[in-house]
Amino acid sequence: MKSIKIFAPATVANLSCGFDVLGCCLDTIGDEMVISLTPESGVKITKIDGANLPMETHKNVAGVAVEALLNTYGKNIGVEIEIYKKIKAGSGIGSSAASSAGAVWAVNYLLDTPYTPEELVKFAMEGEKLASGNAHADNVAPALLGGFTLVRSYSPLDVIKLNTPKDLLMTVIHPQIEVKTSDSRSVIKHNVSLKQAIQQWGNLGGLVAGLFTEDYNLIGRSLEDVIIEPMRSILIPEFNTVKQAAIAKGALGCGISGSGPSIFALSKGIDTANNVAEAIREVYHKTGLDFDIHVSKINSQGVKVIE
Ligand code: HSE
Repeated sequence: MKSIKIFAPATVANLSCGFDVLGCCLDTIGDEMVISLTPESGVKITKIDGANLPMETHKNVAGVAVEALLNTYGKNIGVEIEIYKKIKAGSGIGSSAASSAGAVWAVNYLLDTPYTPEELVKFAMEGEKLASGNAHADNVAPALLGGFTLVRSYSPLDVIKLNTPKDLLMTVIHPQIEVKTSDSRSVIKHNVSLKQAIQQWGNLGGLVAGLFTEDYNLIGRSLEDVIIEPMRSILIPEFNTVKQAAIAKGALGCGISGSGPSIFALSKGIDTANNVAEAIREVYHKTGLDFDIHVSKINSQGVKVIE
C-alpha cells in the first residue's frame, strides 16, 4: 500500500480587494492527512480526528475532490483518507480547502503526478462546491500552488501564481464563533456601482503590482475593500476596532479573512506582525470571547509531504 502523510495549509482568501480571486497560503497553520492507495477501488474516509465531519465519501469535501480527480484519471484506483483537522470549520482560513486541496495533491503525488497543481485546482473546487454551494478557487489555489495566487478567470479556469515579497508576514485572529461561508455569502448584494467597481479593480491591480515589485507601501494602499467588507464586517465582533488597532501598530492593511470571522493583517517584518498580534489580543481580550491568534510567514510551497 503506497501511503504519505501531508501538511495541508490554511489560506487567507480575498485579501480585501480580491473577492473570489485572490488568496495566500499560510505556513504555521494547517491540517495533517494520511492518504493511501489501496488495491480495492473506491474512495474511503477511514478516520477523522479533531472535527465532527461526515465519513461518507460523497458528503466529505476530501472524498468528493478525490472522486473528481479519479473520474478524470479514468483507472480503477482505491484511496483511503485519514484527516487530522487542526483548522476549525467556519473559521475563514480555508478549512474545507485544506481538506480538498490536500487530498487531491496527495493522490496526484502517489500516482506520480499526472496533473499540474493548476489542473488540481479544478478537482479541489468540487470540495468547495460541496462545502459552500459555490466552487470558488481562492483558497484551494494558494493551498495547491503556494504563495499568493490570482484566479484571472473561472471560465475557462486560469490560475496565476503571484510573487511573495520576502518580508511579508500574516497575523490572523480567529474569534471562536462559526460563520458558515454559505451564510456569509448570502449577505452579499449582487449589484455593484461603477464607482465601487473602479475603486476595487484599481486596488486589485495595485496589490498585484505591489506584490511583484515588492513595494510594501503600494501593497498597504491597495488593501482596501469597498464592496464586500462593509456588508460582511457586521457579522464579526469588534471588526473595526481590530482593524484600527492593527493599522495603528504598523500593519500594511487589515481585512476579513475569506468569509470570516477570522481577520487578517499583513505586515512588513516579524516585529510589526507580533506587535499587531499583541494589539489585536488586547482588543479581543475585552470582549470575553475565546479566540486564537497566529503569526505566520507566507508559505510559498503549499501542500507538502511530512512523512
Ligand atoms: N471568496 C470566498 C468568500 C472565500 O469570500 O466567500 C471563502 O473562504
